[in-house]
Amino acid sequence: GKTILITGVASGIGACAAELAGQMGADVIGVDVREPSSGFSSFIKGDLSTAVGVEEIVKQLPNRIDALANVAGLSGNTGVTATLAVNFYGLRALSETVASRLREGGAIVNVASIAGYGWRANLERAKTLTAVAGFPDVASLVSEHGLKNEEGYPLSKELLLLWTMRAAHEPLFKARGVRVNAVSPGPVETPILKQFRAVLGDARVDSDITRVGRAGNSADIAPAILFLCSDGARWINGANVPVDGGLEASINADVL
Ligand code: NAI
Repeated sequence: GKTILITGVASGIGACAAELAGQMGADVIGVDVREPSSGFSSFIKGDLSTAVGVEEIVKQLPNRIDALANVAGLSGNTGVTATLAVNFYGLRALSETVASRLREGGAIVNVASIAGYGWRANLERAKTLTAVAGFPDVASLVSEHGLKNEEGYPLSKELLLLWTMRAAHEPLFKARGVRVNAVSPGPVETPILKQFRAVLGDARVDSDITRVGRAGNSADIAPAILFLCSDGARWINGANVPVDGGLEASINADVL
């Protein structure tokens, strides 16, 4: 069987992806800072918000992994430092550290968001913040760049989308035949959505949902993550796949 490492398995999209991967016969190694309610044969309790936390997780991993699905994320409601640390720098540190254990033809899938599509408009900032190597002192970066709490979530996803494209071409991944892709959900009914409502306001979230008729659920997102992890996606690299019921298309094409 294949071994897939999935972060954020205690809730929402990560829990659903773990369940589906298990049903498909994969050996799932789940990671989360919280204990999952359903039983995992292989669960690592770990914190992606610090360099030490990432190291502790990696120590417990097997030497050979087929795919890494980076699903864990924060909404931004706990502040910009924690959000950038988990959603980008911790995710990247885990990916870079796991790279040597990923088999030839293996894959990394990053769960980004429609909230990250500003990467192109904010390219210079995204370039600067992704150029900082390793797991930096995120609090210092935040004060150095004057980043505000409300910027944390979209910024973290902008960095993630830019890094996904670049990582696909980095020797660390490319020379090993490891593909790196992203999935960008629209609004999905999970606990984080309530937090987005508090941050963005109901009107904003509801208008996105209205455009496409309903919110997504975790089972709408998980298959796309697992497909990009699979050998069937062998010629897809550095891509972002919107999984949003058509939301991004409707905004781009200005359909209403
Ligand atoms: P969720 O809140 O249900 O699950 C997130 C999981 O990440 C939780 O189990 C949490 O404990 C874990 N996590 C948080 N901080 C962690 C840390 N420091 N170390 C390890 N694990 C940590 O949210 P959901 O919806 O399942 O989110 C999954 C991903 O999907 C996130 O990256 C989120 O940004 C993204 N997303 C979600 C959308 C939605 O509307 N639900 C929309 C677009 C993107």
